[in-house]
Amino acid sequence: MVSRVIPVEEFDLVIFGGTGDLARRKILPGLYRRFLSGQMPEGSRIIGAARADIDSDGYRQMIRDAIAEFGGEEKSDADGIEKFVAQLHYIPVDAKGEQGWKELHDLIRFELVNAFYFSVAPSLFGDLAERLHLHKIADSSSRVVVEKPFGRDLETAKALNSTLAKHFDEKQIYRIDHYLGKETVQNLMAVRFGNMLFEPLWNNHYVDHIQITVAETVGVGGRGAYYDTSGAMRDMVQNHLMQLLCLIAMEAPAEFGADAVRDEKLKVIRALQDIDPHHIVRGQYDADGDEPSYREDAENLKSHTESFVALRCEIANWRWAGVPFYLRTGKKLKARTSEIAVVFKDIGHSIFPGDEKRHRNILSIQLQPNEGIQLQVTIKEPGPGGMRLIDVPLDMTFAEALGPDAEDSTDAYERLIMDVIRGNQTLFMRGDEVEAAWEWTDPIINGWKARNDVPKHYDAGSAGPEDAMMLMHREGRRWREIKG
Ligand code: BG6
Repeated sequence: MVSRVIPVEEFDLVIFGGTGDLARRKILPGLYRRFLSGQMPEGSRIIGAARADIDSDGYRQMIRDAIAEFGGEEKSDADGIEKFVAQLHYIPVDAKGEQGWKELHDLIRFELVNAFYFSVAPSLFGDLAERLHLHKIADSSSRVVVEKPFGRDLETAKALNSTLAKHFDEKQIYRIDHYLGKETVQNLMAVRFGNMLFEPLWNNHYVDHIQITVAETVGVGGRGAYYDTSGAMRDMVQNHLMQLLCLIAMEAPAEFGADAVRDEKLKVIRALQDIDPHHIVRGQYDADGDEPSYREDAENLKSHTESFVALRCEIANWRWAGVPFYLRTGKKLKARTSEIAVVFKDIGHSIFPGDEKRHRNILSIQLQPNEGIQLQVTIKEPGPGGMRLIDVPLDMTFAEALGPDAEDSTDAYERLIMDVIRGNQTLFMRGDEVEAAWEWTDPIINGWKARNDVPKHYDAGSAGPEDAMMLMHREGRRWREIKG
């Protein structure tokens, strides 16, 4: 396939926390893939900065090992790896002290694009931002990249935003939500705004409800200490599911540009109605044979943190008034699948005698795995014997429709990092967006706390707690099946 990738300029990228888990697991193997596909211009450098007292050679070895452990098939390209690691450098830096800053200053080439990835605990953002300025390493053209969790409530998110704002303009700040870097999440916008077919039906006259499911099979083992202070609401709903909701519900922006898209997403979040406590179900997974329960994974046998959330919300605007949006996400569920389903209303009147079934069109957008789109349509069952109707899917599984070109292995992180270098903020969250999302989430979490809410238990490998089913059933609707 002819590459239509937008080229990037030569750059210096500094990764604070360059020896950490995210850097080794995702960022560096991702950059290596971009390097192999010719997107890292010659002369560009990646500079690891962390507390570990190693030199550049030690760092290169660490990254060779990381690629061997976390890379895909490209890890067998020994020559490629050597060329890539030759572009790596390392400086031991103390975020809270003086060590390393002068060396970093001397290494950076100010005439090039330079970006600073804060792959560290948010409590260090302020120290890093301050020292980058104090030592004149960052200027008004530098970019900073920050990761979630971006705060744990509105107050802490505001504090982080104002810490960054002391030293950087909003146009320099790239807040990552890796869901926005996923191929099919971007496809959501292509489907909505690249086709005439859907727009006339995309409103409360024709849509009965929308379901968003992000189901995972993994538990929280290994990261229980972090997760137990977070829970599914903070870890997934406030960010990833909220972003999906925005993309499916927003108005068409005037252009596919950073502020135009983010303005529209923000309007959706601001139009979200407060949630009735009866419209939200929390769950926590139980043990399954030898597999530990959530409480064991979290090493907190009294934990009331949720590993599952299902909720019903509404968007109070002209397009969506009265249309329920059902969101659910959880760990240790039946299958790993992320799907958005737009369920259209029943036809008003059937002209076919004896046909009593409710026929509904359902547009299902499968985000992962097996990316694709299906449209359920009603047709005549083939054969003689009168007009019997059946519902069948018009299936466009991308791998089948597009062949090998559909198999884009670009990881969300590598796509987003390249956007940082290109200076494109469209797929990053703006500060006001993050704050608005917390503003909606905070009362829900505070309500649980005030009521001493205890999550419902669910079996590992199930579709979540029974109450989540009831959330839909009592309104005469049902969740789509969770299947891989
Ligand atoms: C992360 C969450 O942001 O997203 C994890 O902290 C979750 O708990 C992960 O497992 C899911 O991402 P993906 O890309 O595997 O769907």
